[in-house]
Amino acid sequence: MLHRCITAFVGLCLCAGPVSAQKLDSLLARMTLDEKLGQLNLLSAAGENGRASNDQIALARAGKLGGLFNVIGAENTAQVQRVAVTESRLKIPLLFGLDVIHGYRTTFPIPLGEAASFDPEAAQATARAAGLEAAAAGISWTYAPMVDIARDPRWGRIAEGSGEDPYLGSLLAAARVRGFQENIFATVKHFAGYGAAEAGREYNETEISERTMREIYLPPFKAAVDAGVASLMSAFNDNAGVPSSGNAWLTDTVLRREWRFKGFVVSDWTSVAELIPHGVAGGPSEAGRRALTAGVDMDMQSSIYMDSLPALVRSGRIPMAVVDSAVMRILRAKQRLGLFKDPYRPRTAPAMDSTRALARRVAGESIVLLKNDGSTLPLDKNTSAIAVIGPLADNKPEPLGPWHTMGQPEDVVTVLAGIKAKVPATTQVMYAQGSGVEDTSTAGFAEAVAAAKQAKVAILVLGERGEMSGEAASRSMIGLPGVQEQLLEAVAATGTPVVLVLMNGRPLTIEWAAEHVPAIVETWFLGVEAGNATADVLFGDVNPSGRLPVTFPRSLGQIPIYYNHRNTGRPFGANNKFSSKYLDIPNTPRYPFGYGLSYTTFGYRDVKVTNPRIRATDTLVVSVTLTNTGSREGTEVAQLYVRDEVASVARPVRELKAFQRVTLKPNESRTLTLRVAAQDLGFYGLNMKRVVEPGAFRVYVGPSSAEGQEARFEVVR
Ligand code: GLC
Repeated sequence: MLHRCITAFVGLCLCAGPVSAQKLDSLLARMTLDEKLGQLNLLSAAGENGRASNDQIALARAGKLGGLFNVIGAENTAQVQRVAVTESRLKIPLLFGLDVIHGYRTTFPIPLGEAASFDPEAAQATARAAGLEAAAAGISWTYAPMVDIARDPRWGRIAEGSGEDPYLGSLLAAARVRGFQENIFATVKHFAGYGAAEAGREYNETEISERTMREIYLPPFKAAVDAGVASLMSAFNDNAGVPSSGNAWLTDTVLRREWRFKGFVVSDWTSVAELIPHGVAGGPSEAGRRALTAGVDMDMQSSIYMDSLPALVRSGRIPMAVVDSAVMRILRAKQRLGLFKDPYRPRTAPAMDSTRALARRVAGESIVLLKNDGSTLPLDKNTSAIAVIGPLADNKPEPLGPWHTMGQPEDVVTVLAGIKAKVPATTQVMYAQGSGVEDTSTAGFAEAVAAAKQAKVAILVLGERGEMSGEAASRSMIGLPGVQEQLLEAVAATGTPVVLVLMNGRPLTIEWAAEHVPAIVETWFLGVEAGNATADVLFGDVNPSGRLPVTFPRSLGQIPIYYNHRNTGRPFGANNKFSSKYLDIPNTPRYPFGYGLSYTTFGYRDVKVTNPRIRATDTLVVSVTLTNTGSREGTEVAQLYVRDEVASVARPVRELKAFQRVTLKPNESRTLTLRVAAQDLGFYGLNMKRVVEPGAFRVYVGPSSAEGQEARFEVVR
């Protein structure tokens, strides 16, 4: 417990002292059953303009509400809080929740884009800023960070997480929790395995083995728990037939018994009620009993705990002790947040120019340079004429992404505006929308082609609308929507060099562009500073350092495709018909996990394992000399992967275990030291117990999951 106080030292100390425990015990003893179940009742604001409804205010007055979410503004939260703490019988304060996903008013890059920065400090900083802005608006609890590992880009919520890797995902989960919890509670979601939705279809079933669940999908949640996260949100999906919001193995065995989690679990939206369509509950009472006894403490939005559980408790079908445990977790959380002492928690929002500067920096770090043939980029600011084309070039809403809370389109710097602000007045900038995002009209092509013909370079800003990713936004095809591909081809046919700027919430299949367009940058949805950050990179004021947190497939047919796959018994052999491959496409992705280019080049040499024989209690130490072999300063993300050659269970061909962002001047070399605790080489063995087995390992240090300098080491008994 002490380490959590230290972890959350600056902001919320997630530890309740002994005196407060007695106070809470006596409070619990005075609560009626309705008041107890009221603490487990969480509703979305149903009033006008972000206010609580009169019915909800009445529930607060009756002590039948533990919290509200989607109440907007400090005045509106204070209005309800005042009723709760002055007019209710026991005066228990409310929690006020909101989905502050990647910014409250200042919108930062979407989490998948920010993950491309491979910069946990940046993620912590944006979460801190978002948490403070939210706290100033009366919010005490965000439903973020989303930490679902995602290996299928058809699934729209891949945009909300940190991609496919558990190590990167764990570092970012912990960083965002620390950032948020300097001012508000964080909630890691969706517990667990939601991102493995079959066929990438939203809310679909998942089939995740316990070993894959423990090694791939659970680590970011564990990292968040270790970082002191206040709450988890149970997911919609069923895994192998067991819905996550009624799964005692998840929310009791793993979360509380193995991980010793002391916080609380909130259901996702109506996922308690959804146990009925899942087919594991015959009605509300059975659904509520299943969820509460599994370990879901707070019932978001279905009102089942409040309405259906009193009778079950009175009849003894739910022991009062189960209710009391859940209620005590909520009361302890409110205690830790300081709500009993100061229910209104006044905060001052940070100045927007400081948060915009942060947004611009992090957006710049999130951009991934995918292709740059002939050093097309960076562009010369004094280029005589530039054509800026595409439905997302002069678009304010879409750069905010699929879930931008209180972010406002008028705050967005568009790519066109960013380019115009970057070049001198002597540079002619022509704009043509060219097409829509999804519609099939080609009426705008002629104007776009004409602009390209008059320009020295054509910048096409293409991709998705924000709402084409995020929740309830799975796509069965993941190419450029509408006629954008045709627009790209028409502009490229003019012979004017093309720079493709992608704006999207998921990996896209962009085979034609990858083969025919000389320069491609992946910008995700970068938030309010999208245009300035994109222009910073396009014109070289920022040297791109983003690396892909998720694999880009060549084709839909390859999905799921991810770097940390196993080798199979018949690994790919170019000349072996009977090996694991397709007839019509390579096994390799278009762009692999960890990949990204720079305006300079880097060389790796002299990879050395300092201690080539280590015990399970040791730490592997690997050194490598990194050199900036190009002509501009740049930042490399040096990545360390391991491969366990022989184990009692087949292990992935690569696992990311360390990385470092390193900025070097031209011709500068630096010897890096990367460390991996031997415990991090462990896996879940045949008996499903975590084990570090002796044996031979390979280590790879390089610029992506697909390349690197190799060395060997051994774990010995
Ligand atoms: C939504 C989402 C979840 C969100 C919750 C509250 O359905 O699944 O991520 O936090 O409801 O808005």
